[in-house]
Amino acid sequence: MSDLALFGGDPVRKTPFSSWPRVVSGQKEKLVNTLINDSWGIGSETIKELEDKFAIFQDAKNCIAINTGTNALWVALKAAGVTSGDEVILPPYTFIATATAVLTANATPVFVDIDPDTFNIDSNLIESAITDRTKAIIPVHVGGNPADMERIIGIANKYNLIIIEDAAQAHGAEWDGKKVGALHKGGIFSFQSSKNMSAGEGGAVVSNDEDFMDACFAYYNCGRNRDGDWYEHHIVGGNHRMSSMAASLLIPQFQTIEHDMRIRDKNREKLDKSLSDMGLEITHRYKQVTREANHLYLLRYKEEKFNDISREKFFDAMRAEGVYTYAGYNPLYREEVFQGKGDDFPWLKNLNYSNISCPVTEQISDYQSVWLTQNHILGDDSDIQDIINTFEKVTIALNKNPEKFDI
Ligand SMILES: Cc1ncc(COP(=O)(O)O)c(C=O)c1O
Repeated sequence: MSDLALFGGDPVRKTPFSSWPRVVSGQKEKLVNTLINDSWGIGSETIKELEDKFAIFQDAKNCIAINTGTNALWVALKAAGVTSGDEVILPPYTFIATATAVLTANATPVFVDIDPDTFNIDSNLIESAITDRTKAIIPVHVGGNPADMERIIGIANKYNLIIIEDAAQAHGAEWDGKKVGALHKGGIFSFQSSKNMSAGEGGAVVSNDEDFMDACFAYYNCGRNRDGDWYEHHIVGGNHRMSSMAASLLIPQFQTIEHDMRIRDKNREKLDKSLSDMGLEITHRYKQVTREANHLYLLRYKEEKFNDISREKFFDAMRAEGVYTYAGYNPLYREEVFQGKGDDFPWLKNLNYSNISCPVTEQISDYQSVWLTQNHILGDDSDIQDIINTFEKVTIALNKNPEKFDI
């Protein structure tokens, strides 16, 4: 084995991994057909086709296509009745949109720490965060790995709370044989560029609850009722409608997603097997998870297992070999928006988010998390072998030549 590329050796991987998103068969034809024959927005048959197909794909009765996952979260929270004075429980280990949607719904985010084995909200800690102002829980299926839904649904039902699943990264993931998204009140998805189904930008709400979906319709469509007049506005809604061009990019992906999911399943299994033998800690799944979306590949690096060499030096060595690994999320409560400086969210001024500590999130974010993006997990056998060889080369060097990393 050559010296590490970080120290002048030959890198394992000399060519880039495949890029994402990629064009799939039928997309160009669908786009051109929509362009010429369908409405580009309101009334589009293509958007309706996407909604029908995505609802079926996610085992839900109904779907509304939305222009982003962020707006889908806001729409779902408002439709669930979240309003001024309410608290919403969520993990701090997620994309900022999960928390800012709570703020823009005029409510207060209450952060609950995560389970170190899955990086998902720790269901054991939820009950102690519930107050008489709690309205909803947002479990986030981080990386496409479902959160502990059985426990969370049990808690929500016991305290009469609503669950809105943030399934932005979890297309096709399953809990106990049922796709995520509509396991309780409803859930949201993102079709932003990086996601496993992508239109560049896009989102969706899914649910089995028709009244909830009627409310979503009003919030995403300028406060209109489904059966009301066009210039009749009942509530403050936004225009969060999807364009039919985005729907045209998504529909052909129903032909490819199952194949992609099988590749990701196979590659994740291979990576899990090889990397756990190298002293890296793989993430686990709750026993009721019957399928993961494998949107990200998440690991824990513990420096005490590698001669106290920091994760950042490990990243330097991995990147020099041609495999881009990175740390991912920071604990959301540290973001400036939660430091009470702005005037837009006056109710945050009485809260001191700098007092919050979610020790597991902090340990994982600050020292341990290792992320690989899905274009790596979608690779062929030789791509995956390169990734495994890179982890092996770097971890062997960390174990055998720690003095070299004192740079
Ligand atoms: C967990 C999570 N929630 C919400 C979002 C927001 O989705 P979008 O980027 O489509 O607004 C994302 C996407 O990045 C996400 O990863």
